[in-house]
Amino acid sequence: MNKICIVGASGKLGRYMVQHALDRGYEVVGVCREKSVNKLDSFKSRITIIPGATNDQDVIRKAVTGCDGVLTVLVPWGVHQYSSGTAQAVMDYASSDARLVFSCGWHITRDGKDEYTKLFQIILRVVSWIGRIFRAIEIDDQVEACRRIFDSSTRWTVVRGSDLEEGESQGLPVWSEHIGDPILKSNMTRRIDFALFMVEALENDELVHEAPAIVGCQSDSALEHGEV
Ligand SMILES: NC(=O)c1ccc[n+]([C@@H]2O[C@H](COP(=O)([O-])OP(=O)(O)OC[C@H]3O[C@@H](n4cnc5c(N)ncnc54)[C@H](OP(=O)(O)O)[C@@H]3O)[C@@H](O)[C@H]2O)c1
Repeated sequence: MNKICIVGASGKLGRYMVQHALDRGYEVVGVCREKSVNKLDSFKSRITIIPGATNDQDVIRKAVTGCDGVLTVLVPWGVHQYSSGTAQAVMDYASSDARLVFSCGWHITRDGKDEYTKLFQIILRVVSWIGRIFRAIEIDDQVEACRRIFDSSTRWTVVRGSDLEEGESQGLPVWSEHIGDPILKSNMTRRIDFALFMVEALENDELVHEAPAIVGCQSDSALEHGEV
């Protein structure tokens, strides 16, 4: 792995991923909205920044060309298929043997075997409903984005993040295939470690065509139930 692209590089997760990628010696291309370019100022001499909407096909084509891996922050902003448009552009223009790693939340299910608590389901329904009313977020479109990724023949991994918190790194999160597995019960990961998992996934072929649900390696449930 020499050159990678980070789509959504200026966000909180994105900036942690940029740092981890530079620490590994990768050449980094970052895509972010024009208005957010200054959020990458501390990296600007060390990375190439391509400003633009992440669902803009021309922007993504330019950014992913020649990259061995693409890390994509999937976010369901607005009501114009931002997530599915972003995922589709990455899949369309990345090299066919590139490693593609996407971020999302626990609400995404690959095989329908995830078990969610009642509280989780209620919160998801309320957030989806409020997001739709205010035309602010489109959770269903993140679901559609992941459906397309799961159906694709690309070398994908979809990393499903638990609730997130800030703080120093605790190390690589542990993961499991299904929400509801005891190891995930603590439902908390440091954002810096979510980013670490995304970057490490680039070189971990065991994660190709997996949708790991992650939790902090120092969380109570991870310590109690060990690594999966
Ligand atoms: N937050 C959580 O608790 C949580 C839990 C589980 C999983 N996740 C997953 O983790 C990933 C990152 O989430 P995060 O909460 O940490 O957010 P984040 O890293 O701050 O990322 C938000 C991204 O969305 C972009 N963005 C913000 N407003 C936008 C708009 N109106 N239109 C287009 N793009 C916009 C940001 O770009 P700018 O820099 O341009 O604003 C940034 O790239 C996501 O895939 C999310 O599904 C989050």
